[in-house]
Amino acid sequence: MADYYRDLACEYDWLYDDDALTDGSAITRPAVAGLLQRFGPGCAVLDAACGTGVDAAALARRGFHVRAADGSEAMVEVAAARFRRERLAIPVQQCLWGDLPDTIDERFDVVLCMGNALVHAAGKDAMVEALTGLRRMTGPGGHVVIHSRNWEKLHAERRVVQVANRVRTRGGRRCVMFYAWEVPDRLDQVHIAHIVFLFEDGDRIEPHEYRISLLPVSLGELRERLELAGLREVGTDFGETTDQYVVIAVAA
Ligand SMILES: C[S@@+](CC[C@H](N)C(=O)[O-])C[C@H]1O[C@@H](n2cnc3c(N)ncnc32)[C@H](O)[C@@H]1O
Repeated sequence: MADYYRDLACEYDWLYDDDALTDGSAITRPAVAGLLQRFGPGCAVLDAACGTGVDAAALARRGFHVRAADGSEAMVEVAAARFRRERLAIPVQQCLWGDLPDTIDERFDVVLCMGNALVHAAGKDAMVEALTGLRRMTGPGGHVVIHSRNWEKLHAERRVVQVANRVRTRGGRRCVMFYAWEVPDRLDQVHIAHIVFLFEDGDRIEPHEYRISLLPVSLGELRERLELAGLREVGTDFGETTDQYVVIAVAA
């Protein structure tokens, strides 16, 4: 995979506001919280796109039995450091979605792919392969949770600059972040996100910019690919006016 996160990893947490950094983005979505509650604390959760480990840590603190993986070595290092700092016994390793079934023996009640990660599997075949890998990590009755940006909405609105609504202050540093999007004519073309952190340095601004290219997926395409990967949708909180959504699926 193209590792867009190699350099971004050490500053990735600035994307989160303070509440999200503590609680993560999985348990705070009612559809995901409802699913996790049904299984109950103690159930086995794989965060298959753990990034810097925010969701995995939030779930482990709540008593879930969590394991974490990510395709980016740099993100895994930051996640491992978080778990050590918080004294959380979360095994974490670098692994691509398609390789998970042959790499990790354990199977899970809930397999998470949060943070709009799946679009990194660019194109239909790669995404079906990724989804197949995620499906094969579920145990009997297990669920896969896919989180996605509402690409149809982003593409239609063409809101090119999206600024975080708060200045973030951590460790004596202050930062404003925004996305600047390159939105092509068609939804099925590569979209480019420029993630920009503006750090305050006295009366100067120090900009740090990271560029990530993404090949969007519409809900219709995602549904088709879930089916091809042997998954059956059992729930979604998709809405035409929401910026993000999850689809929850089980082995067909
Ligand atoms: C936008 S980040 C989301 C991280 C985290 N879930 C969050 O919500 O902050 C996308 C993550 O997907 C990971 N990723 C991309 N392609 C992958 C693949 N083929 N297999 C495993 N992880 C992958 C990246 O390394 C990155 O950490």
